[in-house]
This record gives sequence, C-alpha cells and structure tokens, in this order.
Amino acid sequence: MTELIYLTDSYKKELKAKVVSCKHKGQLWLVVLDKTIFYPEGGGQPSDRGEIVGKKGNAHVKHVRLSGTDVVHECTLDGVFNFGDTVTCYLDWQARYHNMRVHSAGHIVHEAVMQVASYLEPLKGSHGDHAFIEYKGSITQDKKYQIEQKANDIVSQNLPISTEFVTLDQLQARASYIPEHLPSNKPLRIVAIKGFEPIPDGGTQVIKTGEVGPISVDTIDNEDDLVRVNYSIEHHGETTSIEKTSDATSLIAALLDVEKETVDEIRASDQSVDELKIRHLGRSSELSKLTSQLGSVPKIDRQRVGLVTNQVKKHIEAALSERTKTSRLSLDENWIDVTAPGIRPPEGHLHIVSQAITEITRIFERIGFTRVRHPEVDWDWYAFESLNMPPNHPARDEWETFFIGLTGSHPVRKQGETLSDKYGQIVLSPHTSNGQVREMEKGKLPIRMINIAKCYRRQLDVSHTPMFHQFEGLYVDKDVSIGDLKGVMDFFFKNYYGAERVSRLRPFHFQFTEPSFEVDINCGVCLGKGCKLCKDGWLELGGSGMVHPNVLRSGGIDPNVYSGFAFGWGIERVAMMKSGTKLDDVRLLYSNDVRFLEQF
Ligand code: PHE
Repeated sequence: MTELIYLTDSYKKELKAKVVSCKHKGQLWLVVLDKTIFYPEGGGQPSDRGEIVGKKGNAHVKHVRLSGTDVVHECTLDGVFNFGDTVTCYLDWQARYHNMRVHSAGHIVHEAVMQVASYLEPLKGSHGDHAFIEYKGSITQDKKYQIEQKANDIVSQNLPISTEFVTLDQLQARASYIPEHLPSNKPLRIVAIKGFEPIPDGGTQVIKTGEVGPISVDTIDNEDDLVRVNYSIEHHGETTSIEKTSDATSLIAALLDVEKETVDEIRASDQSVDELKIRHLGRSSELSKLTSQLGSVPKIDRQRVGLVTNQVKKHIEAALSERTKTSRLSLDENWIDVTAPGIRPPEGHLHIVSQAITEITRIFERIGFTRVRHPEVDWDWYAFESLNMPPNHPARDEWETFFIGLTGSHPVRKQGETLSDKYGQIVLSPHTSNGQVREMEKGKLPIRMINIAKCYRRQLDVSHTPMFHQFEGLYVDKDVSIGDLKGVMDFFFKNYYGAERVSRLRPFHFQFTEPSFEVDINCGVCLGKGCKLCKDGWLELGGSGMVHPNVLRSGGIDPNVYSGFAFGWGIERVAMMKSGTKLDDVRLLYSNDVRFLEQF
C-alpha cells in the first residue's frame, strides 16, 4: 500500500521514498514506492510526471496509476532500482501546479453553475487539457456569461479551499452530492471552498481560489439531456507557453537517452579511456550540448533537470572508470610492466641488544649452560649482602644503586626475621650477580647458568645509560678451576668474535670472587700487536673470578666440596666490540631513533 502524500500536502515537490517493487513490462518499468507525491490519474485529473532518482538508477515517470492500493509509476528506467533502495521523487511541478489549478477551477465553476442552475445534477468532470463538467439537464446559452462572472467572483475573493478526511457517515451527512461509485482503495476526503458545500474529492487542489486565476467558460454544449460546461484557465508561472514545460521534460528524456547510449558505447568500445572521455564528457559531447540548454529551462524546473544531469554525468564517469579497471593488457596508455619490482614495505628488525642476547645464549647453550631469569628488582641481600658485601662495606661504592623505599613483608622471610634482618631494602639490581645466590637456592647441582637481565645504575653520560644489560655466567661443580674459566672464555670469544681472537685474565678485585680477574680480548684490528684503537693490543671486557666461599655459603653450598667460577659482562659493550662500532654516545641505543637503529 502506497502512502499518498499528495493528499495531505499537494504542494510537496520532492520526496524521499523507498522502492517496494520494480518490474519490467514491455518498454516500461513499473515502480512502486512506500509513499509518493505523484498523483495517479483519476477523478478527472491527469497523472503527474517527473523523475525518480536513485543511487543506481534514474527513472523518468511517464504515467502514474492506482492499482489496488498501490501507486504504480510507469517509467523508463536507466540503471536499476532494488528493493529497499532510497530514491528521491521530483515532480514536474509546472505541469502538476497547472493541473491543481484546473482542478480547483472545476470546483469553482461547479459552484457558479449551481448558483445559476441549481436544478442540475452533476455527473462527472474532467480537469485536464480540455476541462469540463458534465450535468444531467440543460443550460441555456445566455447563462454562459453569468456562470463565468460568478466563477471569477469566487476567484477574486481569494477564498480558502480546505480538504478533510472523513468517514462515509460524515460524508453522507455533510455533502449533498455523492457520486455513484466512491473509491474503495483510497481514503475518503472532502474539499470545501469557504462558504460552499463540501464535495467528495481525492485530487490535488490549490489552497486559495485566487491561485487559479481568471477562468473562462468557453462553451456550453447541450446534447440529449446532458450538458457540458467547458472551461479553461490561463497558464501561469514563469511562462505562458506550455512548450517551455515540455522543454524540461524532453530535455530530461534526451539526457537519459544520451546516458544509455554513452554507457553502452563505453562498455563495448575498443577506444582508449582518454579518447572516450573527451568524446563523451568533452566540450563538444552530446552531454555538454544538452547541458548548455539548462539555462533556457524554466527556473522552477531547473533543479530537477540539473539533478538528472549530474546523475547522468556520474554514471558516464563510473562507466569510464570501470573500463580503466578492466582494460586489457596491451601497449596503450593502460600498459603496465608486471615484471617491474614492487615497492618494498619498510621492514623492521630486532634491536641490536636483542640480537646479541639471542646469539650469546645460543653459544653458551652449546656447552651446557641454560638461560635463566632472575629478578631485576631485588632485595639488598641478593644484590649485595649474600655476595660478601655487608651493609656499609666500602666495596658497595662501586655500584651506584637505586634503592626503593618499601615496607612490608618478604614472601620467603623466615619466622622471627624482620625485613632488615636479612633481605634489607629493595633495589633495582645494579648487576646480574644477584642471580648467583638465587640460582644456588634452587638446590640443584651442578649449576651452569646464563642469567641475562636489565641492570640499573645511577649514571648517565656519553658512555653510560641508567639501564643496560648484563649476562652473568655461573658454573658450580666439584673441582672447577681457573682453567675451566679460561676455557669457557676462549670458547665464547672464538664463537662470538672469531677464531683468531683470544682472551687474557688480568688480576682484579671483586668482593664475591677470589681470585678475581678482568677479562681482556685481543684487539680485532691488530690481533694483539698494539694499534691506535687498543694501544697495547688488548681490549677490556668485564669481570670474572672464582666464586668466593662466603657466596657459596650464602647459597647453601659447602665450599669445601664445591667450587665455581662466575663472570658478568655488559651486553651493549660486548656487542659494540663485535660490530666494531665506536659509539661516541651509547645513549643512542635507547633513544628510539630508527635512522640510527636500522643500521644494525
Ligand atoms: N657483577 C660484576 C659487575 O657488575 C661483574 C662480575 C660478575 C664480576 C661475576 C665477577 C663475577 O661489574
């Protein structure tokens, strides 16, 4: 069922509606919408014409009729309408407005006739091109002028014309003239010129008699016992010639024709897209010729024609770009070299420190070491005290530690112990050696661990960052000697730096190893002879030594049965030495500058 918008608002020229159905019948498409402003032919008033514009199609409405409770728009259609599509209806307003005026004029003439010859029984009316009202009975010719005068009286009073929906009972009570066949498929409505009796009517009316303009009663034709009062009104609006109206309509028809021909041709043609573009959208194209006529279309119709023009242009452009996409591979302007290298998307890689961590882990795994993780935020006990550095021991000064003010209980604190009794404060561990006693506490021997973690020290300058990485080796077993330490060092250096590299142990001091060493590696440039880079042939790597008996005891291991070695080196330093990169500022490693990082 179509909602009949024109019944409540006869001045609505434009309406958004939804497609309910769209069927093909011969040359025409039958379009039904959920609501419409198009008047379907009936009650003596001709049907409306105009356009229905959708995203995927344009329909040119040629005729409209009522079928049951559906309004059927008979159209030529370019493109498609699918169920549920939102479309916009545009009335050929000039024609409709004229029809409204003719229709209202019919009511006015009728009132005039009734004043002059109230005995007549109205039969029917026609409010199109040759408008008339037919009565049973006869009127003498001398009444013609009287009727015309009375009609124009009503016009000049500019009386309001109102419409109202009614029930059948109301209709019978209020109107004395009721046609034999009342329509059953549309609501009952009465129209009343102020001061006159209401008349049943379902057409479109103007709201003031003045809008009708001068009425002329042209002839009165008596035949048998019927009489026809023929009347006409002036053409209004922008123009008095009806040809101008058909200008808009025929221009639209021509535009739609051009669209169809052009789109078909673009699809079938072998010509290049550029050529087609010039031919069909260029200055001397059919479309541009038609567009130039837009200026001569009556103003009232211009928006409607303009809209269709834009849609037509869009559809032609769409057909052209469709061609561009599907054009065959040939040596025309659409030629493409499928063998040309593509554009490589930017590729990321692991940070140099992550790369080094993986490589170092792999090397130690080959001689039985296992990578483990121990806390980076730890108790003073693990970071210092268990490593033979009691509180206030001067050796602690080496590590500029971040302490964290924290109170609370330690999860493994033994009964009776207070926090400061054994574990002390919480620190950001300044080295990975905190993992030594933690590993021993696991209670499994022998120990072969590689603990890799972040370390924190209160330092920030060109050669230091407050966060850096260390890898800590710990080997505890029976009969572990300095020879084992030296062997493991050499194994690592040869695998990581190359076969020609050797290590050297230089005596040093750490609280948690005895004896302690600094490990040096022979210079990669001069291989130990001495050069500008190394000066004396050796480069310093980091600390190592034999695990101090007190440390073994802290970890619950008997130093009389077991011995071990440990080493702890900075990853950043080890990795930089391998690549030969001499960073004049190590902070670059953590400044997240891709231009720097992508070099490694
Ligand atoms: N933990 C020491 C440091 O950070 C290095 C080291 C580790 C020394 C293990 C000896 C044994 O400097």
